[in-house]
Amino acid sequence: MNIAVVGTGYVGLVTGTCLAETGNDVICVDIDQEKVRKMKNGIVPIYEPHLDLLFERNIKQNRLSFTTDLKSAIKDAKIIFLALPTPPDEDGSADLSYVLGVAEELGKIIDDYKVIIDKSTVPVGTADKVHAAVAKNANVDFDVVSNPEFLREGFAVDDFLKPDRVVIGTQSERARKILEELYKPYVRQGNPIIFMDEKSAELTKYAANAFLATKITFMNEIANFCEKVGADVDAVRKGVGSDTRIGKRFLFPGIGYGGSCFPKDVQALAKSGTEEGYHFQILDAVERINQTQKTALMPKILEYFNGDITNKKVALWGLAFKPDTDDIREAPALYLIDELLKAGATISAYDPEAMSNVQARIGDKINYAIDAYDACEQADLLVIATEWSVFRHPDFERVHAKLKGKVIFDGRNLYSLNSMKEHGFEYISIGRDKIINS
Ligand SMILES: NC(=O)c1ccc[n+]([C@@H]2O[C@H](COP(=O)([O-])OP(=O)(O)OC[C@H]3O[C@@H](n4cnc5c(N)ncnc54)[C@H](O)[C@@H]3O)[C@@H](O)[C@H]2O)c1
Repeated sequence: MNIAVVGTGYVGLVTGTCLAETGNDVICVDIDQEKVRKMKNGIVPIYEPHLDLLFERNIKQNRLSFTTDLKSAIKDAKIIFLALPTPPDEDGSADLSYVLGVAEELGKIIDDYKVIIDKSTVPVGTADKVHAAVAKNANVDFDVVSNPEFLREGFAVDDFLKPDRVVIGTQSERARKILEELYKPYVRQGNPIIFMDEKSAELTKYAANAFLATKITFMNEIANFCEKVGADVDAVRKGVGSDTRIGKRFLFPGIGYGGSCFPKDVQALAKSGTEEGYHFQILDAVERINQTQKTALMPKILEYFNGDITNKKVALWGLAFKPDTDDIREAPALYLIDELLKAGATISAYDPEAMSNVQARIGDKINYAIDAYDACEQADLLVIATEWSVFRHPDFERVHAKLKGKVIFDGRNLYSLNSMKEHGFEYISIGRDKIINS
């Protein structure tokens, strides 16, 4: 099938590449000329594991190409995916200007039947708005389908190629058949394609993300309470998670969720509620608690240094909002950096993939280390903000030798208390006993 994907970010590029992988002809469109130039030169503009292999293969076999020109891209396409940003507006609602702007353009340029698929995460009722925006100028038949994306950055290729489920919101029989055909190769193991109306599909995505954000936040509150009463959150997590009604996943406590999705989707769902006269009390709490949790290490650090960290050198491991991505949107590390700098500390940070994005955002307010050990050189403390695998088994003797202050503040509970004792560190984590010498 001929497909155009409009918006070539984390979702659009993975979608386009994975659709080419099953034999479709895909053109990806983006307004970012530099990004398109890079892709035309065979460079993947984001870090996403395993994407490069598929990207190269499909370009070589002429199934995947890139352009900035929407009109030429959609000319032969039967299916047009919109994978455009829906960032939060000032009031927290989803900004639909990218999606509706492109929809209006499409109305002017489509000259035969198209299925226009909304892959962006959008509030209930957006499919109707997209339909109206296209219809304003169109004089051919078209369908607008809601097909929310559930991929996770870091696992995006696998998630797209083998989704738990595909959700498709459409009431058009014609569009339904086309999409069933398109997605068939990805659900051969029997995972479902779930058809529903457009509004339910739109809400499914928000409900899924808000539920996961709530699960994480609930466990973070349990962890905070563990600290008050001397319980161990690791034990509680295992006890709770082995109940199959609850499940083991998304129960790891830490310094909060970040990323481009959970924070904005929780806010946008709450805002949608307000607009309909419904107050999502639980979402207000989730957002508030998560915001505080991002800097939950700060009071612990200040307490350890008797309230004064002026000129203390902080080694910071991890900048991305989670491992296996270079995405720093709403990353807890950025909030920690702000607070640490405000308190007068200096920072030497290391992240395997996200350092250039942070440097582009905050410049040289912090030092960027060559590797994890270099960050620790003469530092008064080590702070861990992202659970990259490479931080799980470092050479502790080397870390110990490099650090001036032998103390680790671990926002992701990477190490056992025993191993920290054995290696001679003081250790402060989330929801567990502190190891403090004195
Ligand atoms: N990132 C994720 O993990 C994820 C997962 C599921 C759903 N989503 C949703 O998918 C949507 C896209 O997210 P993303 O993370 O891929 O965003 P992104 O910011 O990484 O990418 C968006 C791309 O759209 C391009 N763009 C903007 N305006 C354009 C226009 N008029 N024409 C063509 N291109 C244009 C931008 O240049 C950018 O490359 C959002 O609604 C998001 O909530 C994201």
